Amino acid sequence: MSKVTVIGAGNVGATCANVLVTEQIADEVVLLDIKEGVSEGKAMDIMQTASILGLSTRLKGVTNDYAATEGSDVVVITSGIPRKPGMTREELIGVNAGIVKSVADNVLKHSPNAVIICVSNPMDTMTYLLHKEMGLPKNRIIGMGGALDSARFKYFLSQALGCNATEVEGIVIGGHGDTTMIPLKRFAAYRGLPVSTLLPAEVLDKVAADTMVGGATLTKLLGTSAWYAPGAAAAQVAAAVIHDQKRLISCSALLEGEYGEADLCIGVPCILGKNGIEKIVEFDLNDEEKAAFAASAAAVHKTNAALNA
Ligand code: NAI
Ligand code: 2OP
Repeated sequence: MSKVTVIGAGNVGATCANVLVTEQIADEVVLLDIKEGVSEGKAMDIMQTASILGLSTRLKGVTNDYAATEGSDVVVITSGIPRKPGMTREELIGVNAGIVKSVADNVLKHSPNAVIICVSNPMDTMTYLLHKEMGLPKNRIIGMGGALDSARFKYFLSQALGCNATEVEGIVIGGHGDTTMIPLKRFAAYRGLPVSTLLPAEVLDKVAADTMVGGATLTKLLGTSAWYAPGAAAAQVAAAVIHDQKRLISCSALLEGEYGEADLCIGVPCILGKNGIEKIVEFDLNDEEKAAFAASAAAVHKTNAALNA
């Protein structure tokens, strides 16, 4: 029996729960929110697709009832305010740090052995906060940002190449921020062929630039931040843990010397399995990529410092 709890039944949380159910990633899913009735309503709506889609995963919605989350294998934290047009993810820190802290205490009481996936923004800093608050082994707290940014990178690559996004390889590392993420253009490939041999440099530069502001572009169009790909990316990370997939996915991990950095959470290629982050894979970065990663880490450290302000 596998059980996943999703905290926050807003746009991202409900979408994540929907993907967990429709892809039948876990046997049981609990969706929890503080807003009375919202998670119950969304869970009921999703479960009414079961006979149409032939689903067996059970989803239950609850209002702040942590007892229902007891013994979860994975807990996905999406509670918190999203950004509005013109806002950065970093501006959400004050409100979201309080929410994430209160959620962490409740989660720990009821699911002491769970792997935690942090989605709330600013995600790298909220993941770091969860490490400090929860005191869990470092492999058991995963920040979801790189999975989404890499999916956006692959989307823009596929648009430029005129191909299916599943045929493209692409990974984004660094902070989950408009100026801090690093789409690794040199490692991007179409069926094994480096995309740098298929696309002019200026096209590849535009793909990278579009990826970096991918979230901001959607926030401007939608009036709030995106949810379909973020929810699916959080479910993808949960699936890698629940099914012990040993998949390489870019996630925010606590670094202790890897990539020359320490005492922060930032996006790096991770092997995910039943123990959470089972390995951090160190790509052989060139000088330019190393400098970009160091600058990204400095920006994340600066945001982390605001936790104590
Ligand atoms: P939303 O406003 O639609 O949903 C947030 C939900 O959290 C609301 O239903 C609210 O009632 C709930 N909530 C607030 N305090 C709570 C608490 N103490 N306990 C339980 N639930 C609580 O927001 P949305 O769009 O779902 O975004 C959620 C968070 O995810 C935001 O911080 C957003 O910036 C972040 N995000 C992160 C992404 C990533 O890649 N890491 C991608 C997209 C969004
Ligand atoms: C996104 O990337 C805002 O983190 C959110 O869509």
